[in-house]
Amino acid sequence: MAKRKFFELGIWTTVKKTRDYPITVNQRNLFHWANFQDLLHSKPGPFSFLELGIVSWRLNPDDYENDEELKRIREARGYSYMDICDVCPEKLPNYEAKLKNFFEEHLHTDEEIRYCLEGSGYFDVRDKSDRWIRIAVKKGGMIVLPAGIYHRFTLDTDNYIKAMRLFVGEPVWTPYNRPHDHLPARKAYVESFIENKACTQAVDAN
Ligand SMILES: [Fe+2]
Repeated sequence: MAKRKFFELGIWTTVKKTRDYPITVNQRNLFHWANFQDLLHSKPGPFSFLELGIVSWRLNPDDYENDEELKRIREARGYSYMDICDVCPEKLPNYEAKLKNFFEEHLHTDEEIRYCLEGSGYFDVRDKSDRWIRIAVKKGGMIVLPAGIYHRFTLDTDNYIKAMRLFVGEPVWTPYNRPHDHLPARKAYVESFIENKACTQAVDAN
Protein backbone atom coordinates (compact mmCIF):
# COMPACT_ATOMS: atom_id res chain seq x y z
CA MET A 1 0.00 0.00 0.00
CA ALA A 2 2.70 2.46 1.00
CA LYS A 3 4.71 1.73 -2.11
CA ARG A 4 1.75 2.39 -4.36
CA LYS A 5 1.04 5.70 -2.67
CA PHE A 6 4.60 6.92 -3.18
CA PHE A 7 4.51 5.87 -6.82
CA GLU A 8 1.30 7.76 -7.42
CA LEU A 9 2.85 10.85 -5.89
CA GLY A 10 5.97 10.46 -7.97
CA ILE A 11 8.25 10.09 -5.00
CA TRP A 12 11.44 8.08 -5.18
CA THR A 13 10.63 4.87 -3.37
CA THR A 14 13.68 2.67 -3.19
CA VAL A 15 15.15 2.53 0.27
CA LYS A 16 18.80 1.84 0.58
CA LYS A 17 19.29 -0.35 3.61
CA THR A 18 22.56 0.29 5.36
CA ARG A 19 24.06 -1.94 7.97
CA ASP A 20 25.54 0.78 10.11
CA TYR A 21 23.04 3.57 10.30
CA PRO A 22 19.38 3.65 11.23
CA ILE A 23 18.48 6.63 9.06
CA THR A 24 19.08 7.22 5.39
CA VAL A 25 18.08 10.18 3.34
CA ASN A 26 17.00 10.64 -0.23
CA GLN A 27 16.31 13.88 -1.99
CA ARG A 28 14.17 13.62 -5.06
CA ASN A 29 15.64 15.12 -8.23
CA LEU A 30 19.17 14.77 -6.94
CA PHE A 31 18.83 11.02 -6.39
CA HIS A 32 21.30 11.41 -3.62
CA TRP A 33 21.62 9.00 -0.75
CA ALA A 34 23.59 9.64 2.37
CA ASN A 35 23.62 8.43 5.93
CA PHE A 36 22.74 10.96 8.56
CA GLN A 37 26.07 10.78 10.37
CA ASP A 38 27.85 11.99 7.26
CA LEU A 39 25.36 14.75 6.73
CA LEU A 40 25.50 15.83 10.30
CA HIS A 41 29.17 15.77 11.06
CA SER A 42 31.61 15.45 8.24
CA LYS A 43 30.40 15.57 4.68
CA PRO A 44 28.25 18.56 3.82
CA GLY A 45 26.30 17.66 0.70
CA PRO A 46 23.56 19.29 -1.32
CA PHE A 47 21.41 19.38 1.78
CA SER A 48 21.90 19.09 5.50
CA PHE A 49 19.75 18.08 8.42
CA LEU A 50 21.15 20.87 10.54
CA GLU A 51 20.29 23.49 7.98
CA LEU A 52 16.68 22.37 8.23
CA GLY A 53 16.76 22.29 12.03
CA ILE A 54 16.54 18.50 12.19
CA VAL A 55 18.47 16.60 14.85
CA SER A 56 19.08 12.86 14.94
CA TRP A 57 20.92 10.26 16.95
CA ARG A 58 21.65 6.59 16.80
CA LEU A 59 20.82 4.97 20.13
CA ASN A 60 20.54 1.49 21.62
CA PRO A 61 16.86 0.53 21.38
CA ASP A 62 17.37 -2.81 23.13
CA ASP A 63 18.19 -1.11 26.42
CA TYR A 64 16.32 2.17 26.19
CA GLU A 65 15.22 2.02 29.83
CA ASN A 66 18.82 2.21 31.05
CA ASP A 67 20.35 4.16 28.18
CA GLU A 68 22.49 6.97 29.59
CA GLU A 69 22.69 8.69 26.21
CA LEU A 70 18.91 8.84 25.95
CA LYS A 71 18.76 10.13 29.52
CA ARG A 72 21.26 12.84 28.68
CA ILE A 73 19.33 13.92 25.60
CA ARG A 74 16.05 14.05 27.54
CA GLU A 75 17.59 16.15 30.30
CA ALA A 76 19.39 18.49 27.93
CA ARG A 77 16.30 19.13 25.83
CA GLY A 78 13.68 18.97 28.58
CA TYR A 79 11.80 15.95 27.23
CA SER A 80 9.83 15.21 30.37
CA TYR A 81 7.02 13.26 28.67
CA MET A 82 7.48 9.84 27.08
CA ASP A 83 5.22 7.12 25.77
CA ILE A 84 5.52 4.24 23.33
CA CYS A 85 3.26 3.77 20.38
CA ASP A 86 2.80 0.77 18.06
CA VAL A 87 1.76 1.68 14.55
CA CYS A 88 0.49 -1.38 12.70
CA PRO A 89 -2.94 -2.61 11.55
CA GLU A 90 -3.31 -4.99 14.51
CA LYS A 91 -2.46 -2.59 17.33
CA LEU A 92 -3.45 0.91 16.28
CA PRO A 93 -7.18 1.68 16.46
CA ASN A 94 -8.46 3.35 13.26
CA TYR A 95 -5.21 2.41 11.59
CA GLU A 96 -6.15 3.40 8.03
CA ALA A 97 -7.58 6.78 9.03
CA LYS A 98 -4.59 7.57 11.24
CA LEU A 99 -2.09 6.61 8.56
CA LYS A 100 -3.94 8.86 6.15
CA ASN A 101 -3.68 11.75 8.63
CA PHE A 102 0.01 11.09 9.28
CA PHE A 103 0.61 11.31 5.52
CA GLU A 104 -1.14 14.66 5.10
CA GLU A 105 1.47 17.39 4.90
CA HIS A 106 1.35 19.28 8.18
CA LEU A 107 3.29 21.10 10.85
CA HIS A 108 3.22 21.28 14.64
CA THR A 109 3.74 24.20 16.96
CA ASP A 110 6.24 22.08 18.95
CA GLU A 111 8.97 19.64 18.05
CA GLU A 112 8.03 16.17 16.83
CA ILE A 113 10.36 13.69 18.52
CA ARG A 114 10.35 10.04 17.53
CA TYR A 115 12.67 7.21 18.52
CA CYS A 116 12.28 4.01 16.50
CA LEU A 117 12.49 1.05 18.89
CA GLU A 118 11.40 -1.55 16.32
CA GLY A 119 10.32 -1.62 12.71
CA SER A 120 10.78 1.27 10.28
CA GLY A 121 9.06 4.12 8.51
CA TYR A 122 9.51 7.27 6.46
CA PHE A 123 9.51 10.94 7.38
CA ASP A 124 9.22 13.29 4.45
CA VAL A 125 10.30 16.88 5.06
CA ARG A 126 10.52 19.93 2.82
CA ASP A 127 13.90 21.36 1.99
CA LYS A 128 14.64 25.07 1.60
CA SER A 129 13.38 24.97 -1.99
CA ASP A 130 10.18 23.24 -0.91
CA ARG A 131 11.17 19.87 -2.39
CA TRP A 132 10.59 16.66 -0.49
CA ILE A 133 13.40 14.88 1.26
CA ARG A 134 12.65 11.31 2.25
CA ILE A 135 14.13 10.13 5.54
CA ALA A 136 13.98 6.40 6.20
CA VAL A 137 14.07 5.65 9.92
CA LYS A 138 14.71 2.23 11.31
CA LYS A 139 15.44 0.58 14.64
CA GLY A 140 17.74 2.73 16.78
CA GLY A 141 17.14 5.99 14.94
CA MET A 142 15.88 8.98 16.90
CA ILE A 143 14.82 12.10 15.06
CA VAL A 144 13.63 15.55 16.09
CA LEU A 145 11.66 17.64 13.61
CA PRO A 146 11.58 21.30 14.66
CA ALA A 147 8.38 23.22 15.32
CA GLY A 148 7.01 24.73 12.13
CA ILE A 149 8.57 22.38 9.56
CA TYR A 150 6.19 20.91 6.99
CA HIS A 151 6.40 17.12 7.04
CA ARG A 152 4.49 13.85 6.88
CA PHE A 153 4.98 10.27 7.99
CA THR A 154 4.15 6.85 6.65
CA LEU A 155 5.15 3.26 7.12
CA ASP A 156 7.09 1.29 4.55
CA THR A 157 5.86 -2.01 3.13
CA ASP A 158 6.56 -3.82 6.43
CA ASN A 159 3.66 -1.85 7.96
CA TYR A 160 5.17 -1.66 11.42
CA ILE A 161 6.93 0.77 13.68
CA LYS A 162 7.23 0.84 17.46
CA ALA A 163 8.12 4.40 18.33
CA MET A 164 8.90 6.28 21.50
CA ARG A 165 7.26 9.70 21.52
CA LEU A 166 8.86 12.44 23.59
CA PHE A 167 7.68 15.91 24.46
CA VAL A 168 8.47 18.92 26.62
CA GLY A 169 5.69 18.98 29.25
CA GLU A 170 2.16 17.85 28.46
CA PRO A 171 2.04 16.52 24.90
CA VAL A 172 0.16 18.34 22.15
CA TRP A 173 0.03 16.31 18.96
CA THR A 174 -2.19 18.68 16.95
CA PRO A 175 -1.30 18.67 13.24
CA TYR A 176 -1.92 21.82 11.19
CA ASN A 177 -2.31 20.75 7.59
CA ARG A 178 -0.64 22.87 4.96
CA PRO A 179 -1.12 25.78 4.47
CA HIS A 180 -0.73 27.22 7.97
CA ASP A 181 1.94 29.77 7.17
CA HIS A 182 0.44 32.39 9.46
CA LEU A 183 1.18 30.44 12.65
CA PRO A 184 3.95 31.95 14.79
CA ALA A 185 5.75 28.59 14.86
CA ARG A 186 5.85 28.51 11.06
CA LYS A 187 7.00 32.12 10.84
CA ALA A 188 9.76 31.42 13.36
CA TYR A 189 10.84 28.32 11.43
CA VAL A 190 10.96 30.19 8.12
CA GLU A 191 12.93 33.02 9.69
CA SER A 192 15.43 30.71 11.36
CA PHE A 193 15.95 28.02 8.75
CA ILE A 194 14.62 29.13 5.37
CA GLU A 195 15.76 32.75 5.55
CA ASN A 196 18.75 31.82 7.72
CA LYS A 197 18.27 34.61 10.23
CA ALA A 198 19.36 32.43 13.12
CA CYS A 199 21.71 29.57 13.74
CA THR A 200 20.20 26.10 14.28
CA GLN A 201 19.34 25.08 17.80
CA ALA A 202 20.36 21.60 16.69
CA VAL A 203 24.01 22.20 17.45
CA ASP A 204 23.21 22.63 21.13
CA ALA A 205 21.84 19.13 21.32
CA ASN A 206 25.16 17.36 20.96
FE1 LIG B 1 3.74 15.34 12.55
